[in-house]
Amino acid sequence: MNALQGELVKRGLDCAIFMTNEDPNPNLFYFTGYKGAGFLVIPANGKAVLHVPSRDLSEAKLIKGLSLSSGKKLTESLAEFGINTKKVGVDFVNTSVTDFNMLKEKFGCELFDISCFMDQLRAIKRKDEVMKIRKACKITDKIIGKFVDNFSKFKTEQEAAAFLVYETRKLGCVESFEPIVATGANAAVPHHAPSGKIKAGFCVVDFGIKYEGYCSDVTRTFYFGKPTAEEQKNYYDLLKEQETAIGLVKPGKIIGELCVQAEKNLKQKLIHSLGHGLGIEVHEFPYVSTSSKTVLKEGMVITIEPGEYIEGKYGIRIEDDVLVTKKGSEVLSKFSKKLICL
Ligand code: GLY
Ligand code: MN
Repeated sequence: MNALQGELVKRGLDCAIFMTNEDPNPNLFYFTGYKGAGFLVIPANGKAVLHVPSRDLSEAKLIKGLSLSSGKKLTESLAEFGINTKKVGVDFVNTSVTDFNMLKEKFGCELFDISCFMDQLRAIKRKDEVMKIRKACKITDKIIGKFVDNFSKFKTEQEAAAFLVYETRKLGCVESFEPIVATGANAAVPHHAPSGKIKAGFCVVDFGIKYEGYCSDVTRTFYFGKPTAEEQKNYYDLLKEQETAIGLVKPGKIIGELCVQAEKNLKQKLIHSLGHGLGIEVHEFPYVSTSSKTVLKEGMVITIEPGEYIEGKYGIRIEDDVLVTKKGSEVLSKFSKKLICL
């Protein structure tokens, strides 16, 4: 919050306002850990105010270091706290057009985008955030292990995906996105929605959870049946390229250059980006693609997930979550990458 307040002062803004209606605003969560509806108002100087509907007041009361406001109009409350709202920083990316217009037209605020600043701030994870992502990865590894052990019981991709959901919920966590289980030719579709009977061949499992609001995102490709020598070669070639790409992750590396170098080694042109930033959101800044000019810094967490997709035939993808450390990187997702036959 201090960093944001410094930015507000630098830009001559009175305050920043973050809003959550239906979809949680990840920046509001970042500052507070609060998941309910409401407005977080951070003045350039002084204490932040969390303004919430009465139904969410008990949850909001758990948050320390803020002034709480409820049961009155936001404008009245801000006037009471003496917060000026003439020039307001808003994260345009997470703000609905309705809220945007309300601030502009009803409240008469002049609005300035602070999305990029928030992206940069959140990209460098604090130690406690890294700890949560690390824990999310550890739980994910454990559930994938159970998935492998139980695979013979699944008849359909939906059943297999439901197992991942059930194991996640049993531990009091939630999935970071709808799990992907793609078998046979379905594996050639990167975001395949589980459907139909489990088919022989490569089986792509792309799965992640949220631990205390922080995501993991891991992909492993297994084989249902017995792979041919050529299939084994295809798998291990891709694994080699994935590990080469991870080897390029270090502070000071320009992400675009990393992607160009990594993608040059792949057999075919990648049909999605090599990876993405990971944190409160499963896809967040920095984006790991060839056009990125962002420089990797210690504390960033990114995924590296090359894939090979042959339409109508098969697909292979291997994804790890990687922390940029002082001198290089640490892979947080540790489940085996040997080609396991299910
Ligand atoms: N794990 C899904 C994705 O990164 O798109
Ligand atoms: Mn991913």
